[in-house]
Amino acid sequence: MMGQEHLRNLALLPQAKAVAIYEPDASMLAAALALAPGARAVGSMEALIDAGDVDALVITSPNFCHADQLLAIAARRHLPILVEKPACTDLASVARLREMALQYSQPIWTAMEYRYMPPIAELVKQVHAQSATGPAVMLSIREHRYPFLEKVGDWNRFNKNTGGTLVEKCCHFFDLMRLLMQADPIRLFASGGQNHNHVDESYSDGTPDILDNAMVVLDFPGGRRALLELCMFAEGSRYQEEICVVGPLGKIECMVPGPTRFWPADTLGEPPVAQLILSPRNPAGPHTLDILVDPHLLAAGDHNGSTFYQHQKFLSVVQGLAAVEVSLSDGLSAVVIGLAAEHSAKTGEVVDLTQGPWALL
Ligand SMILES: NC(=O)c1ccc[n+]([C@@H]2O[C@H](COP(=O)([O-])OP(=O)(O)OC[C@H]3O[C@@H](n4cnc5c(N)ncnc54)[C@H](O)[C@@H]3O)[C@@H](O)[C@H]2O)c1
Repeated sequence: MMGQEHLRNLALLPQAKAVAIYEPDASMLAAALALAPGARAVGSMEALIDAGDVDALVITSPNFCHADQLLAIAARRHLPILVEKPACTDLASVARLREMALQYSQPIWTAMEYRYMPPIAELVKQVHAQSATGPAVMLSIREHRYPFLEKVGDWNRFNKNTGGTLVEKCCHFFDLMRLLMQADPIRLFASGGQNHNHVDESYSDGTPDILDNAMVVLDFPGGRRALLELCMFAEGSRYQEEICVVGPLGKIECMVPGPTRFWPADTLGEPPVAQLILSPRNPAGPHTLDILVDPHLLAAGDHNGSTFYQHQKFLSVVQGLAAVEVSLSDGLSAVVIGLAAEHSAKTGEVVDLTQGPWALL
């Protein structure tokens, strides 16, 4: 699914093209080649890495493949890489990748599409400017959405393949928290469960074991805090993400619609438009700004146009014109926070993120 979104968005960039694809599933390969008719199929990842006409690699395999694939590339040929989140699924791989990154001579960008959704990019700009809120003190991110979709081989039904819901899905939000608060969290506590989704499903590995709802509270330096609220049986919502930042001067909210293709337009009409709501304390009162996204970009994916903007920036990195914005280290920090939250939800422990196994660098 995500690989095809990357191909649709690459096709919108005149200076980039997909030249070769490694995809072990025959029907997904056919679908990918249909989106990139100029590309050829190759039979192995090694053949892809060795191809002389390849200037950069995009990794969109299942989560559990990413670490080994990054390490295999590092051992064979250093090329610029855009790797889908999460960069890996366990703490041992975090350590291996941190070590690899020290030696890697080309840029590695972790795909964190949420940063590049136009309403969220505007929120980040406003929060960093501090004009509406002053320094951010409280941040909450609420995602209320549909259950996990079906994937090739049902890999996303089990924690061992994904790292757990708080890694797979929520690494995006922990990344946004680090970006918005301009700091690493120092401590977290999580509560989560699998109350409804996938409990009647059965696979060769058994019944899915993934969380479908959770709350995570994170402390940041300077007496600041953030909350993540995730619910994956709430697809009836008008907005999928509702992000709220409050500081001494006021509050900003960001309302982000879910994928356009899931909106019931036949009964409810046009899908909702992304919004920023600025609510200063003085003079008090909310002001709402609609954030419009180019309909061509909306149609090219499920992420409010963000995949296009991310590729535009990654292309500049490949051309040597810009620096990586979301490093492998950023991607690994988001994984560590997600794994720590999974651990906390399972054990009831508060996790220290400043030292020991969960230390963020
Ligand atoms: N950033 C985002 O917003 C976002 C959204 C969706 C998915 N993703 C990420 O994209 C990745 C793929 O997810 P998806 O939803 O497309 O899953 P998917 O199951 O639809 O696609 C995964 C594809 O990888 C192929 N594959 C399996 N083993 C492989 C291997 N060893 N090498 C190369 N390809 C292999 C499968 O055949 C399949 O076609 C995941 O890491 C997921 O977390 C990111």
